[in-house]
Amino acid sequence: MIKPEFWSIPADTLTPAELMDKIVALKQRLLDITSRFSDVRFATSLAAEDMVITDAIAKTKANIRLFTLATGRLHQETVDMTKAAERHYGLTLHKAYPLESDIQEFIDQYGMNGFYDGEEAKKACCSARKIKPLNTALLGADAWITGQRREQSTTRVELNFEEGDEARGIAKFNPLFDWSEADIWAYIKQENVPIHPLHLKGYPSIGCEPCTRQVKKGEDIRAGRWWWLQSDSKECGLHVNQ
Ligand code: ADX
Ligand code: SF4
Repeated sequence: MIKPEFWSIPADTLTPAELMDKIVALKQRLLDITSRFSDVRFATSLAAEDMVITDAIAKTKANIRLFTLATGRLHQETVDMTKAAERHYGLTLHKAYPLESDIQEFIDQYGMNGFYDGEEAKKACCSARKIKPLNTALLGADAWITGQRREQSTTRVELNFEEGDEARGIAKFNPLFDWSEADIWAYIKQENVPIHPLHLKGYPSIGCEPCTRQVKKGEDIRAGRWWWLQSDSKECGLHVNQ
């Protein structure tokens, strides 16, 4: 049987000068955010985009608190990567955990892996394991930062550098909104950024273990996320203004 060929890290497309401009601009974006807001927080999933931002935060020493949503369903590689990133940069990645009672409620209603049954159950699981912990992680913040990019999905094409998070009444920034996938990997190579090991195994995008799989060459980079749902449902609600 022929083994399928999976997604792999893209080749460079930028000239060294273009890359340098991007790096300088990214650092400036972070510093601009911290000059306008006093309590800024960055949500990292430990995937490539988020490692680029982590690297830029470490190098600029921007006053930004880093946190990760420890959903309880992450790959062991992600848990290990959290520790590796902390060690590499000498930074703390604060963990936002779901409430036991919310998890229990989900399991009672849908079963442990009930999210495979459809959109409603998936939403309920993401709400308990991601959205509610995100709300807690952002309590008291003036602004938050994500690693989202326009190119990642049809649901993200209108993304801007600055957005309002209307639900929480704070600012929200996407400093990589106009970066391509190749730009991300050029930065990683240039700056020797540590990467999540699953990127070397065909995973361009990394979420919870039961809801993320490898992507075949040529497939959409989010094809491995919630693959059993329609493409317009491939958001977990972290970035929905509601
Ligand atoms: S998701 O909404 O479908 O899960 P995606 O994996 O593309 O999102 O990540 C987009 C951005 O959401 C990341 O760059 C990061 O800022 C944030 N994010 C996603 N997952 C997590 C997580 N587990 N912890 C913290 N932030 C996350
Ligand atoms: Fe639950 Fe999957 Fe959402 Fe993780 S990604 S919170 S396991 S539905």
